[in-house]
Amino acid sequence: MTAKIIDGKALSSKLRIAFRARVSKLIDQGVRPGLAVILLGDNAASRVYVRNKINACDDCGLKSFPHLLPPETSEEELLEIIAKLNEDEAVHGILVQLPLPSHIDMRKILESIAVDKDVDGFHLYNVGSLVVGNSIFPPCTPYGVQLLLDTTGIDVAGKNVVVVGASNIVGKPMALMLLQKEATVTVCHAKTRDLAQYTILADILIVAAGVPGLITGQLVKRDAIVIDVGINKLPDGRIVGDVDFASVQQRASWVTPVPGGVGPMTVTMLIENTLRSAERRAGIGRGIGTEGWDAASH
Ligand code: GUN
Repeated sequence: MTAKIIDGKALSSKLRIAFRARVSKLIDQGVRPGLAVILLGDNAASRVYVRNKINACDDCGLKSFPHLLPPETSEEELLEIIAKLNEDEAVHGILVQLPLPSHIDMRKILESIAVDKDVDGFHLYNVGSLVVGNSIFPPCTPYGVQLLLDTTGIDVAGKNVVVVGASNIVGKPMALMLLQKEATVTVCHAKTRDLAQYTILADILIVAAGVPGLITGQLVKRDAIVIDVGINKLPDGRIVGDVDFASVQQRASWVTPVPGGVGPMTVTMLIENTLRSAERRAGIGRGIGTEGWDAASH
């Protein structure tokens, strides 16, 4: 039997229909949701991601505030821009695209974003609130993965979940969210010895390693759910994930494609977080730290 496809593009389109209705409701109340997107420098992949985020705002009716800054922009200049956006009533979300150039202290920048506009969920307050299970801005990629898993109808409680990759953006928050849902979570990373001994036990395998084709069918338990977070550009220009799709599809019960799996969901969850921020401002949302992230209105 070949695995069923978890279609992130389709789910993303469905969610965006609901988002447009939420935007209309906000506009009726005099609030146009707004997202500021800051990009420093000319990293090609980052430019594509930022363009996708701005396009998603247009698609859903949000106003975007792009700040495309030259690579030599100083930390002070960047802090000044963020301080202004923190005060700007028209801005409900602020995103600084990572990675930042090496002359910028990333943590200092992320900590300067107002907690209630931190739609990436990277501020330490939001990281901490995720640890204790009541984040209002779950980081977008793991949040999207969570919704993709929901579509399979499988309850993650008690399941063996293996996350490959321990980044602050994907692997660590993903592990925390699934732990909160009572999964048994193992996190593997570049120093893990004998990756296969872990992956072969996974009922749910989530791969965010940035290594094309890292996971082949042999490493996958029969009927596992496999989520591929990788987006890798090969020398011939093809975009592939971290999962060898053809061989894994022969073993798994469900698998995400690349492209068309996790990628579209990441951008869509950014819009969800921005809408939630705007709804709170309009008095139709929830206060910070009072609700579990899984109570989000999706
Ligand atoms: N770089 C790679 N992924 C992300 C993300 O989700 N948010 C931001 N701000 N930068 C990134």
